[in-house]
Amino acid sequence: MRVWLRREPIVIVSGRGALLRDARGREYLDANSSIWTNLHGHNHPKVNAAITRQLRKIAHSSALGLANEPASLLAGKLVEIANRRLPIADSRQPRAAFRNRQSAIGNRQLTKVFFSDDGATAMEVALKLAYEFARRARGLKRPRFLSLGGAYHGDTVGAVSLGHIPRFHQAWRGLTFRTEAVMAPYCYRCPFNRAKPERADAREYRRCQWECVGKVEDRFARPSKRNNPFAAMVVEPLVQGAAGIIAHPQGWLRRVADIVRGHGAQLIADEVMTGFGRTGFRPSAIADEESAIGIRHSAILLASHHEGVQPDFLALAKGLTGGYLPMAATLTTQEVFDAFLGEHEEFKTFFHGHSFTGNQLGAAAALASLQLLQSPSSLRARMTLETALGVALKSLWTLPQVGDVRQVGLVAGVELVHDWRTRAPFDVRERAGQRVCEAMARRGVLTRPIGDVIVLMPPYCTTAAQAARMVAALRDSIGEVFSGNCRWERRLPAGEPRRRTD
Ligand SMILES: Cc1ncc(COP(=O)(O)O)c(C=O)c1O
Repeated sequence: MRVWLRREPIVIVSGRGALLRDARGREYLDANSSIWTNLHGHNHPKVNAAITRQLRKIAHSSALGLANEPASLLAGKLVEIANRRLPIADSRQPRAAFRNRQSAIGNRQLTKVFFSDDGATAMEVALKLAYEFARRARGLKRPRFLSLGGAYHGDTVGAVSLGHIPRFHQAWRGLTFRTEAVMAPYCYRCPFNRAKPERADAREYRRCQWECVGKVEDRFARPSKRNNPFAAMVVEPLVQGAAGIIAHPQGWLRRVADIVRGHGAQLIADEVMTGFGRTGFRPSAIADEESAIGIRHSAILLASHHEGVQPDFLALAKGLTGGYLPMAATLTTQEVFDAFLGEHEEFKTFFHGHSFTGNQLGAAAALASLQLLQSPSSLRARMTLETALGVALKSLWTLPQVGDVRQVGLVAGVELVHDWRTRAPFDVRERAGQRVCEAMARRGVLTRPIGDVIVLMPPYCTTAAQAARMVAALRDSIGEVFSGNCRWERRLPAGEPRRRTD
């Protein structure tokens, strides 16, 4: 906080499209979509109009014991999106693989929706439902949960319990309950990857035997001290955001989902960041095969569906309202719903609720956002932006401080390192990621680093030229910050060990 207090803050007063304007009249590109929430840009006339229309009727009435129209319509829309025919997971044998996947994984229907307010609450709901379902339906005495190394699922106590980022979560260990962690498929820093660093995304040149998947299998196969099986595994599908934009290799999710299901556990997909088209489009060869068997590839809005995986719980937030209002949803199956169904005196209900659950303004914004998301012009804009971002990112490989560039659709993480040949990280005191982002802000581009990973996650309305400007600002800022010897480099006593910053 001292560092933050030393500077005058940037005070945002307005926004339009991908641009934010501050109190001094300066304009910035919103390169992280206002912490990964905004989809269609700021001040979008259609979302504004939907909120205004709803405001003329009512802003909010309680959902405890009452229903309301926009929330009910939204629940219907989310169920539709969540139960699209799933794409094939194996592109080599499309038709047969599709049929198999439909029976093995894709036959779950997420038909029940529980509204809340934020990503963390969406995850709390999933966690509590999974816990109680495991006790009631599977007879587990103390259901256990497995999540990934580097996992981040929010800042409420249950969500923190699922988290495994020491810097964020360590302080609360006395408050939280124990969950287990298994290695994340972080190819760039994977101890099993035998490949030397190259100037490419580590997922492309990795040399391994899927040991990360083996680790998940081991966890499920190894009985706990009390022979207590896992109730559920929690994942962020395709890419872990706060862990440092850790992009998973293609096929990891499908393999892990098979293991989870094979052991009778449930799968909780945290799509708080990855949902609503953020993870983009698939390689055209796969997309072509999918459309040949009747799957509208472009209609896929959930990261899990890219690998043909249907979770038992789906947590959505951030982009749900297009990033305009706080609202979240947890989707699950009829089977889970039924475990909480009973007469008044049985007290089987799910005792969980928030004052603003099912808020009408949020639901109206979400309905407008979903309509935009499914329009042909939004699809075209997202495809163009994904390509433009990919092309621009390639220019970063010439910089020696760039160790890995990971792009999944409209999410990109650029990992800065002291030495790309050894993957050696910067010393934490160098504040490499923060200084680069400060330099980017001076160039009119706003984003936040995760340690030394610079995140680019533009709103979908960002033009190709604006995407190129974001990357150019990053490139020039890296050049500025590391021109000559680094300030800290000179101050570090000789021989002092370097510490990982992530
Ligand atoms: C994957 C994931 N889950 C949950 C959360 C928590 O969401 P919120 O900040 O809305 O509580 C975040 C926030 O960054 C997230 O990235």
